[in-house]
Amino acid sequence: MQSHGLTLGIETSCDETSVAVVEDGRRILSNVIHSQVDLHKGFGGVVPELAARDHLERLPQLLDLALEGARAQPADIDLIAVTRGPGLAGCLLVGVGVGEGLAAAWSTPLTGVNHLWGHIYAAMLARPELEPPLLGLVVSGAHSDLVRMPEHGRFEVIGRTRDDAAGEAFDKAARMLGLGYPGGPALDRLARTGDARRQPLPQPSLPGLEYSFSGLKTALLYRLRDLGETVSERDRADLAAAFERSVVESLLEKLDQALRDHPYPEVVVSGGVAANTLLRKRAAEVVGNRARLTMPPLELCTDNAAMIAAAGHHSALQGSTVDPSLGW
Ligand code: KG4
Ligand code: ZN
Repeated sequence: MQSHGLTLGIETSCDETSVAVVEDGRRILSNVIHSQVDLHKGFGGVVPELAARDHLERLPQLLDLALEGARAQPADIDLIAVTRGPGLAGCLLVGVGVGEGLAAAWSTPLTGVNHLWGHIYAAMLARPELEPPLLGLVVSGAHSDLVRMPEHGRFEVIGRTRDDAAGEAFDKAARMLGLGYPGGPALDRLARTGDARRQPLPQPSLPGLEYSFSGLKTALLYRLRDLGETVSERDRADLAAAFERSVVESLLEKLDQALRDHPYPEVVVSGGVAANTLLRKRAAEVVGNRARLTMPPLELCTDNAAMIAAAGHHSALQGSTVDPSLGW
C-alpha cells in the first residue's frame, strides 16, 4: 500500500480558508488558517458568494505558506485531502476544484473528506495516541451531532439537533444581545461576567438523544422584549450566562446518556463550540473518570485543514481514496 506519509489538507467549507501538511495523519507540520471574519463582519453573518471568492483568491498563497512551513515540495506530498461537505456549496466547490487541479498537476491521489469526521480527527492531532472506539460530540455552527466511532472509517450518528445547531443558537443569541459577529466567542466572553441564576432560561430537553434550541432562543427573545429599554449591561451579561448554561447542560445531558448507552473508553468533544469556556469545564466534570475526554485546543476546534488532512489520511489507509458520501 502507498505510504501516505505526508497529506496536504484543504478546507474551505465555510468562512475559514486553510491549508495544512500533516505527517502520518497525526503530526502537524503546518496548518495555515485565514479567517474571513473581517470580510463578513459588516453583514452580521457569512455571505456565501463573498466567502467563495475569497477562498479562491487566498488559496494559492496559503498553499505556498503551508508547503514552506512544512519544508515540503509538491513531490513530497503523498495524498491530497479536501473537504467535500457538508458546507456552503460554492465554497466547497472552490476547495474541491483546487484539490482536483493539484492532484492532476502533481499526479497525487485525492480524497474527499466529510467535514465532521475532520472535527473528530482533530482530537487525534491533539493526542496522537488516541484510537477508537470513541464517542464524539461535534458541536459547530452547523451541527450538534453525537457520534459513535467503533473503528477508523466507521461513524454512526446517534443523536442530532431537530432545529438549530449549538453554534447557530449561540450566534443568534449573541445577535439578540447586541454582540457582533461571530457571536459565539463574544457571548462566551460576556457570559463570564454574568450570573446564570439571576435570569434563568429553560433548559431544552427532548426524549432520546435529540437536541432542540429554537425554544430556548424564543425564550431569550421574549425576555429581552419584556425588559425592553430597561435592559442593563448586567441583565445582558446574566442572560448570556443563562443562555450559555442552558445550551451547555443540554449538550452534556445527552452526552452523559450516550456514554451510559455506549460505555466507550474515549470521548471527544470537538467543533467550533468546543472552544466554549463553560462547555470545556463542564464536559470534564460530566465525563468524570468514566472515559478519557479529549477536547482539542482552540485552534484545532475551529475549522482548519490539519483535521481534514488527518481524516483523509485515515480514510485512505482504510483502503482507497474513494470519496465518502456527503452526509454522515
Ligand atoms: O467548527 P466551526 O469553526 O465552523 C463550522 O463548521 O460551523 O464552528 C463555528 C461555530 C460558530 O457558531 C461560533 O459562534 C462557535 O462555533 N464558537 C463558539 C465559541 N467559539 C466559536 N461558541 C461558543 N463559545 C465559543 N467560545
Ligand atoms: Zn467546522
